[in-house]
Amino acid sequence: MDKRKNKLVNVTILGIESSCDDTSASVLRNGVVLSNVIAGQKVHEAYGGVVPELASRAHQQNIIPVVHEALKQAGVSKEELSAVAFTGGPGLLGSLLVGTSFTKGFSTALNIPMIEVNHLQAHVLAHFIKQNEIDNNHPTFPFLCLLVSGGNSQIILVKAYNDMEVVGQTIDDAAGEAFDKCAKVMNLPYPGGPVIDKLAKEGNPKAFKLSKPQIPGYNYSFSGLKTSFLYLLRDELKKNPNFIEENKADLCASLQYTIIEILMDKLQKAARDLNVKGVAVAGGVSANSGLRAAFEEYAHKYHWEIFIPPFAYTTDNAAMVAMSGYFKYLHNEFAAMDTVPFSKLVI
Ligand code: KG4
Repeated sequence: MDKRKNKLVNVTILGIESSCDDTSASVLRNGVVLSNVIAGQKVHEAYGGVVPELASRAHQQNIIPVVHEALKQAGVSKEELSAVAFTGGPGLLGSLLVGTSFTKGFSTALNIPMIEVNHLQAHVLAHFIKQNEIDNNHPTFPFLCLLVSGGNSQIILVKAYNDMEVVGQTIDDAAGEAFDKCAKVMNLPYPGGPVIDKLAKEGNPKAFKLSKPQIPGYNYSFSGLKTSFLYLLRDELKKNPNFIEENKADLCASLQYTIIEILMDKLQKAARDLNVKGVAVAGGVSANSGLRAAFEEYAHKYHWEIFIPPFAYTTDNAAMVAMSGYFKYLHNEFAAMDTVPFSKLVI
């Protein structure tokens, strides 16, 4: 088969993700993942959060070796690629620029199209990545997706790969932010979500009663919870300076329990009112063991068909970018050479 015909039969997409502090490249062939390489950035650890300028510099150092490794692990040559997909936003502008500029050079050199991908949509479409040729375990449209990360908490009605409606979202902090900020006041390392998850396993989720927001509709709010957690610590520390140390597991368990209750309550209302039975979860917080267990529980109780991503696709990864690129490739949706990234981009 000549190279051109082969490209039509085997749609091979290279995905590039550089929206925050993970440089990632992935190769997918007809939606089947062949490689997914992620280089994290340890440089931010000392600062307790991502430093944008350091992130873009690290992306510049990482991007070529990461792409090289993704192609090598996939056993695919550059010439076999049908297109290159990249994250066009939302994210840190300097970080996005590295991926976008690399993509422009790469697609020009190889004379292949480039495809712009919305990072948030990519998290949702990660549910369509196939682990192998016979993997058919993906949602059918329409379905609901709870997208929970460090920057987002949204309930999305997914009608098609390119038609998503946000039916509820946070009016202040995101769920991941609530985990991270509460971890910080307990002097736990950043990012706090995974640490709280681990400590919560040893604690009593009902030990401390924390405030829950009373807002109408499907919107979320986490700032009140954060404040009530802060006040609890402040008041208890006055009585006992070792309060946090002595109650760490119970504090983590109670906080995690409350965040999950808030998330699941609105999600269940949306699923009920919109009469949707397919319910998925995506984003960094979807790695949380308590949230995963709550999904199983709700599936049983409300007869949901649930979709929980493998851990590799919960945090930022290029496989989800390549998957979104694959959908767009099939519909000839390509990006122009003068495309620029946007730090603020909505679904
Ligand atoms: O999607 P993501 O990787 O990127 C950003 O939005 O930046 O999400 C990161 C967020 C952080 O807030 C982190 O604390 C949270 O996901 N996270 C978790 C867990 N793993 C990551 N939160 C709770 N439990 C976890 N196991």
